[in-house]
Amino acid sequence: MILRDAVRVLVANWDGSYTVPSRRLYPHQWSWDSAFIAIGNARWSPRRARSELLALFGAQWRDGRVPHIAFNPKVPEGSYFPGPEFWEARAPSGWKTSGIVQPPVHALAAWQVHLAEPNPAFLRRIYPRLVAQQQYLRTARRSPEGLISIVHPWESGMDNSPAWDVPLAAVETGSAGVTRRDLTHVSADERPTDLDYERYTELARAYRDTGYRRAGAFCVEDPLFNAAYGVAELTLAKIAKACGGDPEPHHREAAAVTAAMVEHLYDDGLFHPRDVLTGCPIRSNSAAGLVPLMLPDLPRDIVNALIGTALDRFGLKDGVLPSFAPAAPEFDPVRYWRGPSWINLTWLVWQGLRHRRPDLAAPLADGMIRAVTESGFREYFDPFSLEGHGCHDFSWSAALILDVAAEHGLDGVPPARGEISQELGGLGEADDIGDHVLT
Ligand code: SER
Repeated sequence: MILRDAVRVLVANWDGSYTVPSRRLYPHQWSWDSAFIAIGNARWSPRRARSELLALFGAQWRDGRVPHIAFNPKVPEGSYFPGPEFWEARAPSGWKTSGIVQPPVHALAAWQVHLAEPNPAFLRRIYPRLVAQQQYLRTARRSPEGLISIVHPWESGMDNSPAWDVPLAAVETGSAGVTRRDLTHVSADERPTDLDYERYTELARAYRDTGYRRAGAFCVEDPLFNAAYGVAELTLAKIAKACGGDPEPHHREAAAVTAAMVEHLYDDGLFHPRDVLTGCPIRSNSAAGLVPLMLPDLPRDIVNALIGTALDRFGLKDGVLPSFAPAAPEFDPVRYWRGPSWINLTWLVWQGLRHRRPDLAAPLADGMIRAVTESGFREYFDPFSLEGHGCHDFSWSAALILDVAAEHGLDGVPPARGEISQELGGLGEADDIGDHVLT
């Protein structure tokens, strides 16, 4: 049964206090992966979900940034590139980490974990860390337009998106050595090219050499990242209230970033990234431009236009969301982030549609369940055939299906409240979940 299989994947990928995205391709802890994993684990083991988030925030830096990778010291350096020797970074807790960030979806995850099993002590512990994460982004990354910028495609979470082709083309290569490890596990035609990797590595090296302080040749404002930032503030308002704090500053911050996104990133039925270095919009057909649907205070005409785009350009009525519009020349149905459907991206857009257009949200939930039922918990899926690509037993594909099943049901009949959790609760709880490292 699909739900038990999902739990099996999560148990197999558990590393004592957190979950690896994939045993071989991604053998450490990844930032936004852990948030999605916690959302799924909350449905059957809230204890694991809390541990997942606390372990990640144990690698938080003094300036508030949450690094995109927290490295497991037991995994050999050669297992993943670029590893800890490349990044040369360490959190105050002692964890070796990368120095870049990923979309801040963690407040949302913490709240979902709390809803699954209310735990005021957990909320009080994680709240100041989540606030510091947002504070870092405001202090170090905010442009005069009021938007948060990213300094590396890896920070977008959608690394290989065609949206980054133009800004990446300006990156000169040659000075940073690259050792591809990913191609040992996944076929080259499903992964970024060597030239892409040279540019990624060069950008990371240049940022590292400024002490992780100054953007280099890549600096963009991304709609998914900024939407996640806004949703984080709205969620922090709920968490602040639950902890007896003041939600108002969070509401104001969310309203401000929503307004800035509408003013600077929206055009013609889709949100687009903006190149901070040139000041120019990056006209793209990335599904990242639909994620602002998660913001509840988006003007109604923009919501309607986004939904029109989702139907016309992304074929949403068929229940599957490609990561890039299929009619665009750069679209590739099997290559990493250049067109395949991903469970996490679909889940984010599903969240944005659930209360606005349940008639469109329901087929999207069915589509996610269909993909994993037909092809297993793959990393990504051909949006037309649903054939699986990338690595196998991918954690967030398994985790988010548990959440979709709990909310939507497996056969379109919503389960009774708590039914899924009851069915799965206890599975794997016998494992020792270990202690997290927390400073
Ligand atoms: N997503 C990137 C990778 O493929 C970096 O985090 O490894």
